[in-house]
Amino acid sequence: MTDIKTKIDSNNLPQHVAIIMDGNGRWAKKKNKLRIFGHQKGVKTVKEIVKASIEIGIKYLTIYAFSKENWQRPKTEIEGLMSLLISAIDGELGELHENNVKINTIGDFLSLPDYVQKKISYAIEKTKNNTGLNLIIALSYGSRHEITEMTKNLVKEVLAGKIKSEDINQEIIQQHLMTAAFPDPELLIRTSGEYRISNFLLWQIAYTELYFTDKLWPEFGREDFFKAIIDFQERERRFGKISEQINNE
Ligand code: FPP
Repeated sequence: MTDIKTKIDSNNLPQHVAIIMDGNGRWAKKKNKLRIFGHQKGVKTVKEIVKASIEIGIKYLTIYAFSKENWQRPKTEIEGLMSLLISAIDGELGELHENNVKINTIGDFLSLPDYVQKKISYAIEKTKNNTGLNLIIALSYGSRHEITEMTKNLVKEVLAGKIKSEDINQEIIQQHLMTAAFPDPELLIRTSGEYRISNFLLWQIAYTELYFTDKLWPEFGREDFFKAIIDFQERERRFGKISEQINNE
């Protein structure tokens, strides 16, 4: 059987793919297991998708690991997710570093427990000079929170006389978001058959292609990821223009 990878056009890759990894709980339930079992399997999928991203040369991969709303989950599940994150970093950091992966985070960093902040800071510091895949982990992230913080910071800068209110434009807003250092994603994938954005990257996905699949995150894999990339490559991105204009560019 031919590898689906051969169908990917390497000249038309999205440079940034964002993923809403959904369905761990339902996958575990189907198997009569505890939810944390689904999250554990979810970490394996993360590993596979990071590998697949490196394999085809994706430059930025943003994964929604924990939302601001997820703090409302039962304490045991939150603790389970935090310790999974720690063990995933402990277990994978060496290999990620060897593979030139640079780790970044977006989200309300200070709301994370101290031991998680320390571990993540260590991973960011260790990989900061890497030049391969940028793995951006959204942790305690919520887009409305991000936009609110951006607004507060802009107001402070205006009041301090650093910028004039009439100079505020889309570029300045982009530079004040937590994603300032990254391009907008061209492709957003959501697993588990839910058709929602769930407060993820609202500003950044203005022109992003959305891809939904019924597969639950623990059963999503390399081949599914490549299918999403191929689907993306078959779409025409018009950015408000008409087809003829795009074809003449
Ligand atoms: C959604 O499934 C998934 C999450 C809220 C967390 C995703 C976390 C991981 C895959 C593991 C930790 C991440 C890293 C980077 C090590 P759900 O619980 O909402 O599933 P459900 O909708 O079926 O209940």
